[in-house]
Amino acid sequence: MHARVAAATTAALLGGAVLILPSSHAKAGGRITTPLVVAHRGASSYAPENTLDAVDRAAELGFDWVENDVQRTRDGQLVVLHDASLARTTDARTVYPDRSPWNVKDFTAAEIARLDAGSWFGPRFAGAKVPTLREYMDRLSRNHQKLVLEIKNPELYPGIERQTLRLLNNEGWLDPVHLRDRLIVQSFSADSVRTVHRLRPGVTTAFLGTPPVTRLPAYARFADQINSDHRSLSPEYVSAVHALHGPHGPMKVFAWTVDDVLTARRLAGFGTDGVITNAPDLIRAALR
Ligand code: G3P
Ligand code: CA
Repeated sequence: MHARVAAATTAALLGGAVLILPSSHAKAGGRITTPLVVAHRGASSYAPENTLDAVDRAAELGFDWVENDVQRTRDGQLVVLHDASLARTTDARTVYPDRSPWNVKDFTAAEIARLDAGSWFGPRFAGAKVPTLREYMDRLSRNHQKLVLEIKNPELYPGIERQTLRLLNNEGWLDPVHLRDRLIVQSFSADSVRTVHRLRPGVTTAFLGTPPVTRLPAYARFADQINSDHRSLSPEYVSAVHALHGPHGPMKVFAWTVDDVLTARRLAGFGTDGVITNAPDLIRAALR
């Protein structure tokens, strides 16, 4: 048996305390750093996504890092919600039957505060609210958690980058401690990520997507990370990102949304730095 395969087998039998991988996927020395596990939209398999319950559940499971999505109401309040519309994850259709398509940007914060953002997920979450970003940050601070904050649909909300940074600053999230290891701001919009970097160069930033390798140096000027759909990643692509320096050091790759064990292990074999998952406990166990 090949020595590395034998080692992998032994590690598996011992519970796999060290991830040792066969084949060309292994990094130099055959030893892989376990990817950071990020609870996608909070612990969204166990509580309604992007609610304080989802954040608390992630904390109970022992996860520091959560991901969320921020958008803006008609009267300019930042709220945490994934879809542009309130319809899927609240009772907006029932409460406001004449307001189709129930877009966040067409409702005031007071109107959104009336909605139930928990019952769709399960009766025990009835009454959960769409959190404002301020409420959300307060809860993360109380739980000593860390955040991958996604600026969602920035084209709908001119100036949302500056507004989000102002709120983060007011909440104490742009101090040196948070900037070092507690906050990542990401977006599918390169313009939005570039704007965040320009306004607050100390913030760790990530572009959501998989730009061609030839374009990566351009992204490295304003992004510390490339956070990609896991289906688009290969060992070569991850290595190409790792070869570049972003604003704060070597660039990293986080993969989303990774909900099965084999995929998580395959990505760890690539040297992927983080996995964003709806099943953080399952993935953590798989990567141990
Ligand atoms: O964090 C990555 C992931 O959240 C991007 O996709 O649609 O879940 O926001 P989506
Ligand atoms: Ca997201």
